[in-house]
Amino acid sequence: MNEDLKCACVDFYQNDVVRLLLGRSFHPGGLELTRRLGEALALGPGDFLLDAACGTGTSAVFLAGVFGCRVLGVDLGAENLEQARRHAADAGLTDRVEFRQGDAERLPLEDGACTAVISECSFCLFPDKETAAREMFRVLAAGGRVGLTDMVVDRDRLPEEMKGLLFRAACIADALTVDGYRAVLAHAGFTGLTATDHPEALLALAGQIRQRLLLAELAQAVGKLDLKGLDLKRGKVLLHQAEELVRDGVLGYTLITGSKP
Ligand SMILES: C[S@@+](CC[C@H](N)C(=O)[O-])C[C@H]1O[C@@H](n2cnc3c(N)ncnc32)[C@H](O)[C@@H]1O
Repeated sequence: MNEDLKCACVDFYQNDVVRLLLGRSFHPGGLELTRRLGEALALGPGDFLLDAACGTGTSAVFLAGVFGCRVLGVDLGAENLEQARRHAADAGLTDRVEFRQGDAERLPLEDGACTAVISECSFCLFPDKETAAREMFRVLAAGGRVGLTDMVVDRDRLPEEMKGLLFRAACIADALTVDGYRAVLAHAGFTGLTATDHPEALLALAGQIRQRLLLAELAQAVGKLDLKGLDLKRGKVLLHQAEELVRDGVLGYTLITGSKP
């Protein structure tokens, strides 16, 4: 069952239309929030950073370029990783940025191998979050830092129609509260956990998706794009609903950092 959930999620982020709507960074806040995450973790040239569920490697390449660290990106999606490797090559960073296919719940790395771990808008997707947190803890050296940015959901107030598989893949249905993330990380052994809220990152992403939906509608109308069954009208309604939920505090986005003692 968990393996099916993972495959559905990987397929979702390798779908052309989803990629078109999200752009190169598959998380709210884009590289601006990634930079803040890097600063919060005080990344530097001495670090070996793991990006768990790195997608197409946009953040991995960016962080290596800005902070001078070595980065390993791990993701389950083979197509995502192909793109990530091209991205690192284009940036001339293949000596410091590497990608491996693997599951965040069984990280392909030895104990204590890295000095920092991040996961952006992905922890919410892992079916077994306790195991994923324990894996992050395991691969960090003592004193290593962890940083997540992720969706926050008040599940009791989430509309029923947003609790299905599609919304799970879209980082909504299985996301936690801030305290929920803190509890899972603390249970794995992380300490000094602090969180900041970033609802603006979600609203900005919604705005970007709205613009891209409009462009997609135009491209479809003139026969330049095949949306492969995507219902644009429903997409716009859902987007509006999601924005309302952000304003009502049902959906949010958080940046959480902590460390391994
Ligand atoms: C919302 S995207 C975020 C990607 C990237 N972190 C970013 O911000 O651009 C979620 C990513 O998680 C990956 N993923 C989902 N479940 C995974 C798992 N169990 N292990 C590794 N990667 C996983 C997907 O393939 C996808 O690339």
